[in-house]
Amino acid sequence: MSRFAHITGWGTATPKRVLTNEELAQLVDTSDEWIVSRTGIHARYIADQDETTASLAAEAACRALAPTNIEAHDLDLIIVATSSPEHIFPATACLVQDEIGAINAGAFDLSAACTGFIFALNMAAQAIRTGSIDNALVIGSETLSRLVNWEDRTTCILFGDGAGAFVLQGSDRPGGIYTCVMRSDGSGGDLLSLPAGGSKIPTSIKTVEQNLHTIQMNGREVFRFATRVMASATREVVESAGWTIEQVDRVIPHQANLRIIEAAARGLRMPMDKFVVNLEKYGNTSTASIPLAACEAVERGMVKAGDRVVLVGFGAGLTWGALSLEWVEPERKVSPLVRRRRRVFAFLARVRSFLRRIQRKLEGLIWGTSTHPDR
Ligand code: ACO
Repeated sequence: MSRFAHITGWGTATPKRVLTNEELAQLVDTSDEWIVSRTGIHARYIADQDETTASLAAEAACRALAPTNIEAHDLDLIIVATSSPEHIFPATACLVQDEIGAINAGAFDLSAACTGFIFALNMAAQAIRTGSIDNALVIGSETLSRLVNWEDRTTCILFGDGAGAFVLQGSDRPGGIYTCVMRSDGSGGDLLSLPAGGSKIPTSIKTVEQNLHTIQMNGREVFRFATRVMASATREVVESAGWTIEQVDRVIPHQANLRIIEAAARGLRMPMDKFVVNLEKYGNTSTASIPLAACEAVERGMVKAGDRVVLVGFGAGLTWGALSLEWVEPERKVSPLVRRRRRVFAFLARVRSFLRRIQRKLEGLIWGTSTHPDR
């Protein structure tokens, strides 16, 4: 019997603080008029010190899990797609796993810049469809504001922070995630990068002085690349799903620049009202942009049961991709009792994490820290 991967839960998290274009114009030589006319962005969320990629991801994850019929401990897999991980390691996904108490889940991060959420969804859906797992949590989460050079007007106007999460569950009912196109071209890696802090250019006072820990971008080249691949990837994934462009009800594109989305719509000869756009409020939130737009589209009734939907994105790498899905209305019957039980589980997850740390310390004291058999 065929197995399908349905999206049964979705949720978002945004930082408290909003930074408007007018406020940005106090920081760098720019204007609201320039930013809106070149990008369509009016404002973006910026994380405070206590808001991080992992904390936003965990918040979005809890919201996505809340209306489903599973608990965190039923998750088999957690993938966090991110361009601004909490650390190089441990993976942000492991921090989320601990925070929400997903004690039976494997967890890892996926790095494919803004295309990451599409790639991660495809990986999780494949694992469900093969029968290898039943339940997965896929998150796109970013605090790009920490990686932006706030003196560089060509980049700092574009990016914002936030997170979005999908819960995926196996089902015998047709629908859910269908086909995916995944592409990359490393020869364009220098067009959009964060050069320092890795193995090639380790952190040093010099790299900090030269701002090599911040986003470096050739905006014009990225723009040209994006307008080309958004349309071609959409066409390819629609064909692989056996649909025509006319049969697509909704396109949820990566929210980088309104002009890029408009160019894609023109290239595909699709009306703009089929495209979900919310970048005016968020800016470019990289891996979080597609789930943030998708969740908003569902809440606003722009995506309904039976709709044929395409997710399409591009990003550093260079990477690009598209995914076709049929929206399925999940069966949601969550009683107040289950809600209360979940709150208790969330509390217990934190207690468990605390106790595990103490247990590890005690084991170290009892068994010693040496791994040498003679000591
Ligand atoms: N305010 C005012 N003027 C500005 C600003 C600003 N914030 N930024 C640049 N300018 C100036 C430039 O200096 C330039 O001046 P000049 O002509 O005197 O040299 C002029 O405006 C035009 O600059 P362009 O770079 O040609 O502007 P463009 O119309 O290409 O818009 C933009 C720039 C918005 C960055 C655009 O190229 C773009 O959106 N590119 C794609 C970027 C993108 O999507 N990146 C994310 C990829 S996803 C990921 O992986 C994170």
